[in-house]
Amino acid sequence: MTIATASIHPDQECLTRQFPQQIKYMGSKAKIIDFVADSIASVYQGGAVCDLFSGSASLSGALGATYPIVSNDIQHYSAILASVYLREIGSIDIDDLQRDAFVNQRKAQNLIPVELQYAGFGTLEEFQEIEKLNQTLIHENFRHRYHLFLKNYSGTWWSAEQCSWIDAIKQAIDKRRKSGAWGDAEYALAMASLMHAMAYSSQGTGHYAQYRDAKTEASMRDINIYRQKRLQDLFFRKLNQMQIWVQENVVDLNHSIVTKDYQDCLKGIDAGTVYADPPYAFVHYSRFYHAMETLCLYDYPELQEKGGSIVKGRYRGDRHQSPFCIRTQVDEAFRSLFNGVLQSNSCLALSYSNTAMITLEKLIFLAEECLGAKYKIWVEDQDHKHMTMGRSNDRDRDVKEIMLLARKK
Ligand SMILES: C[S@@+](CC[C@H](N)C(=O)[O-])C[C@H]1O[C@@H](n2cnc3c(N)ncnc32)[C@H](O)[C@@H]1O
Repeated sequence: MTIATASIHPDQECLTRQFPQQIKYMGSKAKIIDFVADSIASVYQGGAVCDLFSGSASLSGALGATYPIVSNDIQHYSAILASVYLREIGSIDIDDLQRDAFVNQRKAQNLIPVELQYAGFGTLEEFQEIEKLNQTLIHENFRHRYHLFLKNYSGTWWSAEQCSWIDAIKQAIDKRRKSGAWGDAEYALAMASLMHAMAYSSQGTGHYAQYRDAKTEASMRDINIYRQKRLQDLFFRKLNQMQIWVQENVVDLNHSIVTKDYQDCLKGIDAGTVYADPPYAFVHYSRFYHAMETLCLYDYPELQEKGGSIVKGRYRGDRHQSPFCIRTQVDEAFRSLFNGVLQSNSCLALSYSNTAMITLEKLIFLAEECLGAKYKIWVEDQDHKHMTMGRSNDRDRDVKEIMLLARKK
């Protein structure tokens, strides 16, 4: 299991705890979590810490035993991941879950024609044919209730058999939640382990924007490594490990978990500290992680079409478009963020990267404009060096991760 380690800052007690990562996530702050934690501590004046754009929930992982956390993201999968770090769980009978999932999968397995199975192919052409046959399941009509992944994703990031396991495990998880045997915390733990299993059996590069085509013998061999992965084993192993971690590490500090647009979330915050890590680039997170969102919603979404055909990435038609990723909207998005922090009477630590959609100079200008009268505002780089607020040559420095900090005067 990958554990994000947090070293102790020499002149300060350790704020962070070690936590296992659950999925692969672009822009996860796990690697620089000490910098983030120190930055938050430098503006903190009491109350909850709101992780306004929580993504893979690394902040909850690291600081969930230090502060009351409000974890927010517009995507539902993020709430599931945060729950694992923040919510105590009761007991989970993994053997019973395994038996149930096995029975569910057996039924679906009988619907997968033998030509779709990867055992025994000889040539690249044969492999490509199996991939194509897997992909055509999108045109099939299945009668059993839990067939979303089998239909929509066979032959993409996963094989038909792996997809049938995703559906089968999801069905077994839902049954326990519906019957009341599991509460939200147990449900989230199992769902997060399923997202983990999906990530580590996927033939993609860690996200779900594009799956790879087997164009050459080399790519076929590599894709086939993932086609052979036993998703169910990855799931049960992770669930086991995470159950132990949660039992040993989760502390009830009256945390809360929200799935709102950041502006709405800020309306519910009162005199806390906001940690803001909005998207930096013009590509939307909802394009990279749509398959996890669909797993959580399990709502058989309409898929995006272009020229009358479903797009290769099989994205949800309704996926979220963030104003932080749209050049004409990004300035106003930051203004709303700063004004929301002001209205909520909170302090702010804002992560920024020099690959961002907006210059550091502009960001500081907007922060001063909205918060300047009531806040002390400064910028630090990862070595905790104060920067000169974009007035000298800082703009041109090779800075990757910095923090804009605003503390109430
Ligand atoms: C850079 S990632 C956050 C990464 C996170 N700090 C971590 O360590 O995993 C940005 C997140 O902002 C979320 N997001 C984008 N627009 C949003 C909005 N309008 N309201 C709330 N969340 C939003 C995305 O879903 C994405 O998870």
